[in-house]
Amino acid sequence: MATALIILAAGMGTRMNSDLPKVLHQIAGAPMLIHAMKSGASLEPERTVIVAGHGAEAVGKAGQGWDDRAEVVLQAEQLGTGHGVAQAQSALADFNGDAIVLYGDTPFIRPETLTAMAAARQFHDVVVLGFQAADPGRYGRLVTAGEALEKIVEYKDATDKERTITLCNSGVIAADAATLFDLVAAVKNDNAAGEYYLTDIVEIARARGLSATVVRCEEAETMGINSRAELAVAEGAFQAARRAEVLADGVTLQAPDTVYFAHDTVVGRDAVIEPNVVFGPHVTIESGATIRAFSHLEGCHVSRGAVVGPYARLRPGAELAENVRIGNFVEVKNAQIAEGAKVNHLSYIGDATVGAATNIGAGTITCNYDGVFKHRTVIGERVFVGSNTMLVAPVSLGDDSMTASGSVITRDVPAAALALSRAPQEVKPGLAKRMFEKLKSKRAKSAKGA
Ligand code: UD1
Ligand code: CA
Repeated sequence: MATALIILAAGMGTRMNSDLPKVLHQIAGAPMLIHAMKSGASLEPERTVIVAGHGAEAVGKAGQGWDDRAEVVLQAEQLGTGHGVAQAQSALADFNGDAIVLYGDTPFIRPETLTAMAAARQFHDVVVLGFQAADPGRYGRLVTAGEALEKIVEYKDATDKERTITLCNSGVIAADAATLFDLVAAVKNDNAAGEYYLTDIVEIARARGLSATVVRCEEAETMGINSRAELAVAEGAFQAARRAEVLADGVTLQAPDTVYFAHDTVVGRDAVIEPNVVFGPHVTIESGATIRAFSHLEGCHVSRGAVVGPYARLRPGAELAENVRIGNFVEVKNAQIAEGAKVNHLSYIGDATVGAATNIGAGTITCNYDGVFKHRTVIGERVFVGSNTMLVAPVSLGDDSMTASGSVITRDVPAAALALSRAPQEVKPGLAKRMFEKLKSKRAKSAKGA
């Protein structure tokens, strides 16, 4: 069965108190919209329609950045969830199959839950995702009779008796797309909020002789985000779940609560992650690598047996081959470091390639930026770069070459050559002693004068 996702993401999110549209606030380094799209992606949707309103351009850009096939429709005025879904109708006019409505601010629906809903659709015309709420608060209430769902009643419109129901509406609804749009077209706004409620389609469907049912999920999955406080709770929930998964996958986390993963971090079995490590987006760590304490990694790849940190920073495009060592206070950006190479202390390696078994001395800097352009540094195999070498790119060091400590290297160094470029040292016998005496007597005189 072909599936279309309709993602409601038009709301302003007033309570976020932000210039950024609510669905673009991030959890684990990705906008919550993308989390919703990722859950939906498990159904391998043929079509994805994002209903955008506030900040529509930015919302559309983010959605299409993740899935360039996603379509964006505008809901200029937010007249209710039913009205939101109706905006997707023309985009899906040529679509035959099931539609499933997700909210852009509800990031934790599990793929298994959506699969269960798709399965329930074989037997029912409308399938609603519900949950037992610990505190039902202002959620819509699901009025059921056995397996059948009779209607959804919004809190504002509910009777006292209906408000005692604890089975609540998550917002996720599945139906045949054409049926869904038919039902939504019949929704009116004569209710307490004066909105077109998507939830009204259940009662309308039942009145037309169609069937409706509830698929249940854990309350945690349906967590919606309306405020910064809820965003922080959602981040915590994501991290807790991800840490547990990573541990189960055979990764050592010495202090799991201090390690922060991105939505897409991949860590291989038998890797060791020490305390206080932060992963930004797009990081892969192979089996048996070690990330030592207080390191920050994003957009990088760390191969088997490599050791990173403590206090290392790997930025986008850092690719470490097997058994590479990146030590304390080293920053690596857009650089390929070949097998067994070492950059152990206080260095910046950017826009560079470093050959196998090369050793980069403490304080080495690739001077990659001239203020306008970026330039590459190419370092061969088994090179010894002396401490505090400035490599003024574009520049290359041949295999088995060497630079003297403190050198400023501006020209290419051939294989096996030694490059030395620093001011010759002068030694003045006894001068230090005479200087100190002179300075001390000056101090004594000025103290007397004061
Ligand atoms: C909705 C449900 C409620 C359910 C709750 C779960 C309705 C009428 N009510 O209530 O039964 O328990 O979600 O969280 O559906 N949106 C649009 N366009 C609009 C209105 C909303 O895109 O015109 C988007 C919002 O940005 C948000 C989502 O739809 O992402 C839900 O809207 P919201 O107003 O938060 O619905 P609730 O009142 O929470
Ligand atoms: Ca809401």
